[in-house]
Amino acid sequence: MTRVVVAGSANMDLVGIAPRLPQPGETVLGTEFLQMPGGKGANQAIAAARAGAQTCFLGAIGSDAFGVTLKARLGASGVDASGVRIVYGTSGVAVIMVDTKGENSIIATPGANAAFTRLTDPELAAVRDADVLVCQLEIPVETVTEAAVTARAAGTRVILNAAPARQLPAELLDAVDLLVVNEGEAAVITGKGRDEPRALLDYVPRAVLTLGAEGACFVDRDGTDLRVPPFAVETVDSTAAGDAFTGALAVAWGEGRELSDAVRWACAAGAACVRRLGASNSLPTRADIDALFARPA
Ligand code: RIB
Repeated sequence: MTRVVVAGSANMDLVGIAPRLPQPGETVLGTEFLQMPGGKGANQAIAAARAGAQTCFLGAIGSDAFGVTLKARLGASGVDASGVRIVYGTSGVAVIMVDTKGENSIIATPGANAAFTRLTDPELAAVRDADVLVCQLEIPVETVTEAAVTARAAGTRVILNAAPARQLPAELLDAVDLLVVNEGEAAVITGKGRDEPRALLDYVPRAVLTLGAEGACFVDRDGTDLRVPPFAVETVDSTAAGDAFTGALAVAWGEGRELSDAVRWACAAGAACVRRLGASNSLPTRADIDALFARPA
């Protein structure tokens, strides 16, 4: 079984659904409210576990009631969260607005995630023992860098989902094997648009540009320039689609699949996720992914 370690965030998602997203200064009446464990790190860990990996989550939760639920959700989803740090204070919280087209806007306040600094010896050992390390940017970038550099030195593959968008230190980029970004995140790194995904190769050896409902693009320094068409599904909520994609990609790559095939399988995972409302509860199982993957285009 592929061993995936995710070093990242856990948030409690407070989700309001409305016919449309409000403009600045405007109040719109919603139709539904949902409280659901999320956070890009926790979501990607659950996505990897459901996709078939032995998965360990490294991160920090608060000493509040949200923290108890976040840890329980990870454990109930088959993720080893036994080493998660409990920090006195509030857990990460994301306030999410979703419209009836499935588009969202998110404010994520880090809470305990900001205290996930300086990896401990057991955390470093977990990174070294994994086949694949997966990180995002809802924890301090210094921690992401430490994890990535440690993984690289140990021969653990490093996948960085550079979300939310920010510029990245060269030390981190040098340790990344595979970068996963959407258009906005790519533009912050390269200053280039969606038509120039190869610009990412100035920074990392391989990259996936996710294009939402238009699929994804995979490029590498060996000349690969692959456009993966989308899987047609009805979108209910796009929250965590990138997390489903990244978790599944880590599993498929860790299992030794060709990256071109792994990216297509990950696209199926992202598409399977948008069919349901919410973050951690909408992440697909391996069977869900395989069923969509096998569907004729
Ligand atoms: O990627 C989706 C996640 O982003 C949500 O679960 C929310 O917590 C934010 O971190």
